[in-house]
Amino acid sequence: MISENPKIGFIGFGEVAYYLSKGLKGAGIKQIKAVDQPIYSEIVRNRARDAEVELALTLEELVMRSELLISAVWGNLSLEVAREAAHFMTSDKMFADLNNSSPRAKKLAAEAINAKGAKFIDIGLMAIPKEEGHKALMYVSGDGAEEFKAIMSKYGMNIQIVPGEAGKAMTIKTLWSIHTKGTQALLWELVLAAHKVGVDLSAHEPLIQKTAMGDLVFSIPQWLVMHAGLHAERKSNELREIAEAMREWGIEPIVIEAAAKRLESVAKYSLKDYFKAEMPAEGYQAMLKAIDKISKEAEISVR
Ligand SMILES: NC(=O)c1ccc[n+]([C@@H]2O[C@H](COP(=O)([O-])OP(=O)(O)OC[C@H]3O[C@@H](n4cnc5c(N)ncnc54)[C@H](OP(=O)(O)O)[C@@H]3O)[C@@H](O)[C@H]2O)c1
Repeated sequence: MISENPKIGFIGFGEVAYYLSKGLKGAGIKQIKAVDQPIYSEIVRNRARDAEVELALTLEELVMRSELLISAVWGNLSLEVAREAAHFMTSDKMFADLNNSSPRAKKLAAEAINAKGAKFIDIGLMAIPKEEGHKALMYVSGDGAEEFKAIMSKYGMNIQIVPGEAGKAMTIKTLWSIHTKGTQALLWELVLAAHKVGVDLSAHEPLIQKTAMGDLVFSIPQWLVMHAGLHAERKSNELREIAEAMREWGIEPIVIEAAAKRLESVAKYSLKDYFKAEMPAEGYQAMLKAIDKISKEAEISVR
């Protein structure tokens, strides 16, 4: 059982952990610590300072000093991180995994954590913390789901229980990601093609008007393109995880494999480093200009 004002420890302190921490601190959580890669980048140090989060030196130190561990790394690393953390877990702690991994990875992670007597929460994060902070909708399953909801709802977290074991919440998130991440890859293919042939999409009414599918190029997709640009490497890895889950379900991931390949091609420009993990105010066009510049310098061709 964790306390009513749990000591929280984030494993991975990227965009999600930063915005959740800021919100939770504002809502009254007293202690939040985090561990990121061993050498903290300037972005991580600045974000930690801003959110009043203390950076731990090792995963062991973080687990020892926290009651509720929240893993927020990359989907493809989630199982490895849970198994590593399990070494230090005890029955008085809980472990929540919000990564976009796969239903199978969540199930195996839960087994590793449960083996130490600690409860596990599978979180399918259904909204964007950068937009909605700690109130972003979370689907949760696993043996720790009820307790997590009972305690963290008091701090304004928007938690919905998906009945059943770890992996159930992730199943719904994976289905959702087929749509969202598939769309992001397709949008990148569109803007790269338009840029290559010198067409300004915003100048053509039929491309920006409202359709049954929503506003095709602007508003949300504009934002989606930039989010996918910053997180292209993570998202292409996660698309591979989705493809793996689909194969287990007996569905050939034809489009999802291609989407992974498209975002992989965007990832080689390291836009996250170029824009210091923040979306450029000028919109995705600034990312296209950056790609031109990086291509010239590094002799990578935009394809
Ligand atoms: N962003 C969203 O809105 C959103 C929405 C739903 C779900 N998610 C999920 O939330 C998770 C985090 O996403 P994010 O956007 O915060 O990604 P992010 O900004 O890339 O942050 C991930 C952080 O984890 C660090 N990391 C990687 N391996 C680690 C390890 N072994 N130990 C400690 N830290 C490690 C990374 O460090 P380096 O950069 O140095 O590698 C990075 O700082 C992902 O699984 C993602 O799928 C994100």
